[in-house]
Amino acid sequence: MQKAVEELAQGKLVAFPTETVYGLGADAASPQALDRLYQTKGRPRNHPVIVHLGSSQWLGKWAHCNDWAEALMEAFWPGPLTLILKRVEGVSDQLTGGQDSVGVRMPSHPVALELLNRFGGGLAAPSANRFGRISPTTAAHVETEFQGKVAVLDGGACPVGVESTIIDVSGEEPVLLRPGHITPSQLSQVLGRPIAVSGGAVRAPGTLESHYAPSTPAFLVPSARLAEVLALVETAKTGLLSADPPSQELFWLQAQTEPRNYARELYANLRLLDGAGLKEILIETPPQGEAWTAVSDRLARATQGFKETK
Ligand code: TXA
Ligand code: MG
Repeated sequence: MQKAVEELAQGKLVAFPTETVYGLGADAASPQALDRLYQTKGRPRNHPVIVHLGSSQWLGKWAHCNDWAEALMEAFWPGPLTLILKRVEGVSDQLTGGQDSVGVRMPSHPVALELLNRFGGGLAAPSANRFGRISPTTAAHVETEFQGKVAVLDGGACPVGVESTIIDVSGEEPVLLRPGHITPSQLSQVLGRPIAVSGGAVRAPGTLESHYAPSTPAFLVPSARLAEVLALVETAKTGLLSADPPSQELFWLQAQTEPRNYARELYANLRLLDGAGLKEILIETPPQGEAWTAVSDRLARATQGFKETK
């Protein structure tokens, strides 16, 4: 922990656990550290990053607060909720992708909180994966992503498993930019109004159509079609993530039936499937319903770039 704080203060990168996924941390106030961050992730520079805070006392350094933000922070911080707010003067375009808003979040993971509070200020921390790939939920995942070239604070497996919910409260009405563990109903209950869901311009890379993707072609298959599709594939080269075991012998991972458990294991499961030397990955389409929104969103993006041939 002490070494991590020192390295961050020297403008180096340190990956750390949060309750959602591991983040790749950099001093949010250092242009050199942010340069290194974009380079290491291979991330396009116009894509903004989230500033992580150990306490809301630091918020004023980055963002203009408002009543919606106050209410949401009170209800959900520390926790898996990112707020998009108007940035204060002087906040670098490197953090905001040139927009006049900035993303801020206070994670609840004890290791993240200790790191942030010892460091002070704020840490820019995108998910600790190379751009477009599967987010890491263990320290070992981070090691694999950057071939051991980035220091990692190991805090075990992330309990939430998918990235924070992002809500933009910088405009005329609150807009959900990325679904996560905290649902629109929960947000709307606190704000006392409905939450619009963004369907428009790509402001967040996590909202690109193809993201969180394995290298192996991956496809969603509705439960009712699974048997039919499995009869067509080369079983020795196919992986399956589904609630029930298949009748064929193939690389099978059991999907959890409760949405929060499913989310917790999602990225680790995708990584296992991706690393198994398969030709294709089949994923049983998860159930409908608000509690499944974050999982369905990530699975849609993980499978988006692949063309079905059968
Ligand atoms: O759970 C999380 O949020 C994780 C952990 C490490 O905290 N972090 C994370 O960061 O997912 P990243 O960089 O992989 O995704 C951050 C998302 C991106 O989609 C980014 O475009 C969006 O937040 N974002 C950041 N600032 C924004 C802004 N000013 N306006 C709109 N979107 C913003
Ligand atoms: Mg990410």
